[in-house]
Amino acid sequence: MQVAIDGPASSGKSTIAKIVAKKLGFIYCDTGAMYRAATWLALRDHINLDDASDLLKALDDVTIRFEPTDDGQLVFINDIDITHAIREPDVTNNVSQVSALAPIRTEMVKRQQQIAEEGNIVMDGRDIGTTVLPHAQVKIFMTASAEERAKRRYAENIAKGIMTPLSQLQDEIVARDHKDSTRKISPLRKADDAIEIDTTHLGIDEVVAQILEIIQTVQNKND
Ligand code: CDP
Ligand code: CDP
Repeated sequence: MQVAIDGPASSGKSTIAKIVAKKLGFIYCDTGAMYRAATWLALRDHINLDDASDLLKALDDVTIRFEPTDDGQLVFINDIDITHAIREPDVTNNVSQVSALAPIRTEMVKRQQQIAEEGNIVMDGRDIGTTVLPHAQVKIFMTASAEERAKRRYAENIAKGIMTPLSQLQDEIVARDHKDSTRKISPLRKADDAIEIDTTHLGIDEVVAQILEIIQTVQNKND
């Protein structure tokens, strides 16, 4: 069983995907973290992004891997724990440039499809239902208003002691969504057969319940 969850920044994809995967005993794959890891590597090694070939070479030499723990999923490049570093503003503000590079996408999609071969999976990102897992039995397109998404990011930041103004966060989210939706290769787009869930006024538990119900319905049909 493959569950694809796509949608714009801060719509709740990873929070919900993680819970759904845990409840069902499925693998969880955060594809955004993979693009963030590639961006982290590019920034650390001062790799020129005008041409993707140098970054592709650097990626060839490293493994991006996930390690599930009780407190969430850790992200590593080789043995370096980059879980927190990939959420820093410099990575966030450069990730859309990296993820628009065709050779980088081809490499990431290949790695994501390999992970999906390991078993039942919940994968979240921007192009999962359209490109990475086009035959996924369940496809969700998760949205929420830009105001609500900025408020969610703001609350997360406050909890971490980061004081970026709400209006700046909203501008950054809207700019990143625009870049992700208008790029040439696999832009952020709802797959034709995806079910849209607007989470603006929904709590986490309600969204999880809706998705579990959708998965259950598909499983019953396949039995
Ligand atoms: O968590 P947040 O919504 O901020 O973003 P993310 O899921 O961590 O993804 C970070 C960035 O990676 C996105 O803004 C996209 O540029 C890129 N991405 C992508 O192009 N394709 C994916 N399947 C997942 C992420
Ligand atoms: O992965 P994505 O960027 O789509 O979003 P996220 O990082 O999972 O969610 C962003 C924040 O919104 C988290 O702090 C979630 O706890 C919160 N959230 C929420 O308040 N209500 C929801 N229905 C979903 C997420």
